[in-house]
Amino acid sequence: MKRTLIITGGAGFIGSHVVRLFVNKYPEYRIINLDKLTYAGNLANLKDIEDKPNYKFVKMDICDFEGVLKLMQDEKVDGVIHLAAESHVDRSIKDPFTFAKTNVMGTLTLLQAAKLTWEALPEKYEGKRFYHISTDEVYGALEITDPAGVEPPFTTKASSGRHHLAYGTAFFTEDLKYQPHSPYSAAKASSDHFVRAYHDTYGLPVVVTNCSNNYGPYQFPEKLIPLFINNIRHGKPLPVYGRGENVRDWLYVEDHARAIDLIFHKGKVAETYNIGGFNEWKNIDLIKVLIRTVDRLLGNPEGTSDHLITYVTDRAGHDLRYAIDSTKLQKELGWEPSLQFEEGIEKTVRWYLDNQAWMDNVTSGDYQKYYDDMYLNR
Ligand code: NAD
Ligand code: TYD
Repeated sequence: MKRTLIITGGAGFIGSHVVRLFVNKYPEYRIINLDKLTYAGNLANLKDIEDKPNYKFVKMDICDFEGVLKLMQDEKVDGVIHLAAESHVDRSIKDPFTFAKTNVMGTLTLLQAAKLTWEALPEKYEGKRFYHISTDEVYGALEITDPAGVEPPFTTKASSGRHHLAYGTAFFTEDLKYQPHSPYSAAKASSDHFVRAYHDTYGLPVVVTNCSNNYGPYQFPEKLIPLFINNIRHGKPLPVYGRGENVRDWLYVEDHARAIDLIFHKGKVAETYNIGGFNEWKNIDLIKVLIRTVDRLLGNPEGTSDHLITYVTDRAGHDLRYAIDSTKLQKELGWEPSLQFEEGIEKTVRWYLDNQAWMDNVTSGDYQKYYDDMYLNR
């Protein structure tokens, strides 16, 4: 079936993996990557597919109502996969207004443009889909618990025999009340409510997913994993917030992209699906794995970079533990993570070490010129 999809935020970390997957897997679809190219958007993330005939890039702000509406109408768009957002918690603490504008008003703008475009068609919402990508951070924070007198993490086996690491017995399930704490998660929570309101009020065919922390290639080096890999490589301090006791559930980004593909095509309208790695790590333990892996791959003796660990003032309102229960997605659509963490982290560290030019480009800001060279000056 031919389809025309807008993927917003396709030049960002997760978005670039989703765009690549859809462009390669569905040559019969037209994929429009709509991205404003903020500091986090980098077209070099998509170099390998930028000349494919079914791919088009449009530089646009999701808050530009006239622009988005015209694009949707002109291109006869029948699906939206919405990833564009301001995504870094530390930035949201310094500049909450930008987060409200992009994450809330930008999402509302896309919803209204989709509604007006689709309502005007004879078939209306038939065959249409608005897929909103959200985060587990909207659920707030969980406790670290030790019910059996066993020191966490508990290791259990997921159904396929994979390890499941957990720091407590409570998990985020789809029916939990939203309790966001940071300006980032508050803005994402608000956008999720607008998406559901557009279904309940106007019948817009929406689906929402809430995912845990992603890791993998092309992540902007302000987030923990790429920042620390780069710092270890260059012998720079590793700023560990608080005591490094906070727990995150890590998922390899290509597994998230696979889940998005599945849910876009097979997920039920108006449903929410949680996506997670069944893979909880205390920050300090994860940092030690990163140090060991980078040192080994660089040929440094074990322990070379241990001294880089530097405990710094904790993040304001730092959520203690995130842990997703993605049983619903597993049972209803058969998805589960494909990579065990050890394998995923090895691949990730290798990628950053092998792609120092990408890292230098991003950290120097030079990549911002890429768009002009690629699209304006040719
Ligand atoms: P990212 O910051 O790497 O990329 C965001 C992209 O959105 C960039 O390309 C940026 O240029 C674009 N963008 C920002 N503001 C825009 C605007 N006003 N108009 C158009 N484009 C704009 O983010 P990411 O980590 O890839 O996250 C993508 C989505 O997934 C976000 O909605 C985020 O909330 C969600 N999410 C991320 C994670 C994670 O671990 N990274 C986990 C769960 C959910
Ligand atoms: P981050 O990658 O910013 O993702 P999120 O805040 O969305 O979970 O941070 C992951 C964890 O690592 C989080 O508990 C904060 C911590 N952290 C540090 O200790 N030092 C750092 O420099 C960064 C960026 C994060």
